[in-house]
Amino acid sequence: MPLVTTKEMFKKAYEGGYAIGAFNVNNMEIVQGIADAAIELNSPIILQVSAGARKYAKHNYLVKLVEAVLSEAPDLPIALHLDHGADFEICKSCIDGGFTSVMIDGSKYPFEENIELTKKVVEYAHAHNVVVEAELGKLAGVEDDVKVSAEDSSYTRPEEVEEFVSKTGVDSLAIAIGTSHGAYKFKPGTKPQLRFDILAEIEKNIPNFPIVLHGASSVPQEYVKIINANGGALKDAIGVPEDQLRQAARSAVCKINIDSDLRLAMTAGIREVMTKDPSIFDPRDYLKVGRANVKAVVAHKIKEVLGSEGKA
Ligand code: G3H
Ligand code: 13P
Ligand code: ZN
Repeated sequence: MPLVTTKEMFKKAYEGGYAIGAFNVNNMEIVQGIADAAIELNSPIILQVSAGARKYAKHNYLVKLVEAVLSEAPDLPIALHLDHGADFEICKSCIDGGFTSVMIDGSKYPFEENIELTKKVVEYAHAHNVVVEAELGKLAGVEDDVKVSAEDSSYTRPEEVEEFVSKTGVDSLAIAIGTSHGAYKFKPGTKPQLRFDILAEIEKNIPNFPIVLHGASSVPQEYVKIINANGGALKDAIGVPEDQLRQAARSAVCKINIDSDLRLAMTAGIREVMTKDPSIFDPRDYLKVGRANVKAVVAHKIKEVLGSEGKA
């Protein structure tokens, strides 16, 4: 089957009490690591591309890499999604260029402007059979060139979601309930707690509507340790507790975004190999270990966090 939109995936995930993993891709080894896990566990997946990834690897390379997964697994539902589209133009370019889903991130704008922008993207996307994710509320953390401090972040206001969804016609909504972008989310020793009370209110106001969680990496400490033991200099940080993500996946949350954990897994593999054998200079020798780590992380997420194993 060709690349699919997220419509059917989200409907089944909502009804089945699980979530679809949305994994960021930048190069071949990351695509392959994610695909290997999804194929082995028969799990639907979303492969997502940021503006930074498009700049790094080029649009067409990433589209072809993702399409190559289909030739390996013709029956696996895979959506190709634009992550954090900043304006109409980038969304249009991805819609015209083979993506099946785009995010328009108007969360930095006032409510009415966010509605106008999102609506414009929805009109264009739906006319081309592409689905749209939008965002209300502001996550803390670093994503692309944008850094939002904890003080400038703000939870999604449940009283706004119904008006936003009905006025824009958007297909899914990213919300801010305490997750945050990047590897440095929460200080060690603190106890991160997602605001399930806000999520419950949002669910009540827009029943049967798919919710998205960004910034959902858990920052596996074993990879942080490997990186730092092999010449890295990562600061102490912890991520979103996996049991809370599992709880979210059982609710209206149908899409969970993971990027930082893949970066950590890939980097840990590469650093470990290079330290063990400094004579190595064939990129395949270290990239294959990074790729295997990516596969292991994705398999773990599918089985223990998302609950999407066997749902393809
Ligand atoms: O939320 C952002 C993703 O982690 C993508 O990061 O823009 O550095 O590719 P990037
Ligand atoms: P993490 O930085 O927590 O992996 O979040 C990724 C994300 O939200 C991509 O949009
Ligand atoms: Zn994000």
